[in-house]
Amino acid sequence: MNAEHELVHQAADFLKHRLPLQPEVALVLGSGLGGLAQRIGDPVVIPYSEVPGFPLSTAPGHAGQFVSGRLAGKNVLCMQGRFHYYEGHEMAAIVRPVRVFKALNCRALILTNAAGGVNWDFSVGDFMLITDHINFMGVNPLRGPNDDAIGPRFCDMTTAYDPALQQTARKTAADMGIALREGVYLGYMGPSFETPAEIRAFRTLGADAVGMSTVPEAIAAAHCGLPVLGLSLITNMAAGMAGKRLCGEEVIEIANARGPVFQQLVEQITAAV
Ligand code: HPA
Repeated sequence: MNAEHELVHQAADFLKHRLPLQPEVALVLGSGLGGLAQRIGDPVVIPYSEVPGFPLSTAPGHAGQFVSGRLAGKNVLCMQGRFHYYEGHEMAAIVRPVRVFKALNCRALILTNAAGGVNWDFSVGDFMLITDHINFMGVNPLRGPNDDAIGPRFCDMTTAYDPALQQTARKTAADMGIALREGVYLGYMGPSFETPAEIRAFRTLGADAVGMSTVPEAIAAAHCGLPVLGLSLITNMAAGMAGKRLCGEEVIEIANARGPVFQQLVEQITAAV
């Protein structure tokens, strides 16, 4: 057993003892979207600081704790706040929770994030179903010795975002009368926002939205065979598109304003998966 495998299992064993329910669906709540955790019934809260091998989450708008309980008729395990590469964490630590979800036998992972709109057809406040991604972070969480007990050395990414979960998301949004955009999420290392030239380049490359998370977690989920769904809240148009400067506070402000509807959508999707 390699060291990472050991850390994953230590964390999973710790959580197993602390959780009253077997989690079915895992959720990662991005910037300003943590409010969904308040809708969880019979919540059990476990700060990351208590989980063996877990780093602290330092990003603004990220509470840094697991919240487990009942949501939309399902047993859920939520990350209220995630780890980002720009915080200085190792990739292994960023994706460790995904492997823990798999070790706990979760059967689906819903990743949410705040993102900048790159597609000119998008507007601030839009929701986007991630159909694919471009890893522009310059790093891959699977670099290094492969643990065959977790997944294969060369991991197929053809359907990294589970097609059946995507269908569920489309149908749920349609039933709720919520417009759901679709597109390619480009993962950028940050923490600086992109330049306008980078955004033009990313659009040419096929990106519809840009953000600083999600890609490592989706790769780790594909690797360990955990079906993943990705949803972005477009909190701003990307650099150079709106004729104004970008700021992190605006991202949080829009995430808070659109958060309640986004949370309802995620909740209904949770009910349907
Ligand atoms: N760029 C990168 N990450 C983001 C953005 C953006 O414009 N908005 C929210 N997260």
